[in-house]
Amino acid sequence: MSIETPLNGLLGIRHPVLSAPMDVIAGARLTAAVSRAGGFGILGGGYGERTWLEQETDKLKQQAAPFGIGFITWSLAKQPDLLDVALAARPRAIMLSFGDPKPFAPRIKQAGTLLICQVQDEAMARQALDAGADILIAQGSEAGGHGASRTTIDIVPSIVDLAAGRVPVVAAGGIGDGRGLAAMMMLGATGILMGTRFYASQECDGAEQAKQRICAATAGTTTRGIIFDLSRNNVWPAPFNGRCLINDHARRWMGREIELLQNVTEVAADYAAARAAGNFDIAAVIAGQAVGLIHDIAPAAEIIDRIVSEADQILSGRRNSASRVLPSPLVGEGGARSAPDEGSLSASKMSVEPTPHPSRMR
Ligand SMILES: Cc1cc2nc3c(=O)[nH]c(=O)nc-3n(C[C@H](O)[C@H](O)[C@H](O)COP(=O)(O)O)c2cc1C
Repeated sequence: MSIETPLNGLLGIRHPVLSAPMDVIAGARLTAAVSRAGGFGILGGGYGERTWLEQETDKLKQQAAPFGIGFITWSLAKQPDLLDVALAARPRAIMLSFGDPKPFAPRIKQAGTLLICQVQDEAMARQALDAGADILIAQGSEAGGHGASRTTIDIVPSIVDLAAGRVPVVAAGGIGDGRGLAAMMMLGATGILMGTRFYASQECDGAEQAKQRICAATAGTTTRGIIFDLSRNNVWPAPFNGRCLINDHARRWMGREIELLQNVTEVAADYAAARAAGNFDIAAVIAGQAVGLIHDIAPAAEIIDRIVSEADQILSGRRNSASRVLPSPLVGEGGARSAPDEGSLSASKMSVEPTPHPSRMR
């Protein structure tokens, strides 16, 4: 079983599911696991740690399945030769986020590598298309890590319309299950990119305790802002800021960012010590709004399988998006709740034979 979109042929994948280049926690292990499972794994070039990049790309040179390497564009501009390290590993694609991709596009294209650009608004999408982007990722504010203010349901159809079929558009931000993949395809996306869901995977190089906090987090327990960047002396250009789990440190400084700045030396020292000690009451667990959908630390292949199966069932009309969350038995405040009326969908009603869905892209 697979979901076919134009992305599959372009990237050489079986499933239109991409893993995000999450700084150094998306190492070769996660990238390879996602790609071997038929998705598209993207190594996290992040802020450009050369030794780490050389070591992880070396591991990927051995693998047959196509993969990508991602960079934070404004950071790559400080060490542009890191692109050569990445290209030497012969990735199928380089992904650039957060900054003008134009200075790097010619080298990427000359190497015969695809250029994926993650964008947060229409101006950035036009800039990426002008640079020759082959794939656009429309990232909504729900995303874990850095991003901007537009929501996924707003930005995805807007970028789909802007791209007008010239390049495939992938949706990112707040997606954690098959319902998200199905919904994004309904909005015109040809696939999804997920970070937070793959953070809580067995192959991710993140700390075990951070993964467990993601699994334990309920919906609505993340915040977007500048607190963790200020606390680690890592100033980002506008309009970007970062989303993470709300912890003691975030609670302490939310709404008091000016005061944090006034005490930044002391705060940064405490924060660095907490990061080194793995104290996630102070150090941020960088994660997005999909945390409420994530309950286990699963192998990457299983995550992809579950998401694709669920989306396939929804898109082919065999399953209603709500069927797995229907309470059973249906008991309300006043005792037994009446059965769903004729017009509403129930789990049993969705158990019908598969029928090809007209909107499925081939
Ligand atoms: C822990 C973490 C680190 C991230 N680091 C990067 C990064 O270094 N470069 C990048 O382009 N995006 C990074 N992102 C953002 C992802 O590219 C992607 O937009 C986001 O994860 C999608 O939203 P989701 O987390 O809800 O799946 C990161 C996301 C997370 C959760």
